[in-house]
Amino acid sequence: MIKIAPSMLSADFASMGDSLERLSAWGADMVHLDIMDGNFVPNITFGPGMCKALRPKCSLPFDVHLMVDHPQDWIQPFKDAGADIITFHVEAERHIHRLLQHIHSLGMKAGVVLNPATPVSTCFHVAENCDMILLMGVNPGFGGQSFIPETLNKIATLRSFLDGRGLNVDIEVDGGINRETARLCREAGASVLVAGNAVFTAQDPAAMIGELRG
Ligand code: DX5
Ligand code: ZN
Repeated sequence: MIKIAPSMLSADFASMGDSLERLSAWGADMVHLDIMDGNFVPNITFGPGMCKALRPKCSLPFDVHLMVDHPQDWIQPFKDAGADIITFHVEAERHIHRLLQHIHSLGMKAGVVLNPATPVSTCFHVAENCDMILLMGVNPGFGGQSFIPETLNKIATLRSFLDGRGLNVDIEVDGGINRETARLCREAGASVLVAGNAVFTAQDPAAMIGELRG
């Protein structure tokens, strides 16, 4: 079963709580929160304060995607803010294995994120320490970009690596997901799809979530 994680980056920032309250009724499986620091990526979004304020509005798992330098500094604050899953970029962290252990030690699920140019093999030696591996379908920083087709090869390679090892790790794909790219990602072996613009600009977001799930 494919899970759909709408990204709050594409919601109306002036009414985040209202948008969040609708997600369960739309059939979303989790909430994707894009945390940007203006250093690791050329944009700034919001931090643990916003996450904590939103937490009571929704019972779906909070999937926190850290696009920040020094991600280790932000694990405890996002734990305190109600995160259920934290993923961080391998490009931003020297001690990937240690940080995954740290996230787990606080009782959360953990995963790594790979930018488009980062070889998929970068995550192989920590795959068994991950609950989820996030492959970027765009360069991180902004919603509404076009999906980079090479991502499909990375998904397929990772799917065959995980299946070959018997590892039950979610493959999440983030960026440029629409009806067509969702289908391609599902066929390549993705299990979680993040969707920002596709969901929040849809006439019927519930129907769109159903279509993305396939
Ligand atoms: C990009 C973010 C994505 C983005 C997805 O840096 O990580 O979550 O919001 O937006 P769409 O689905 O519009 O590409
Ligand atoms: Zn994201």
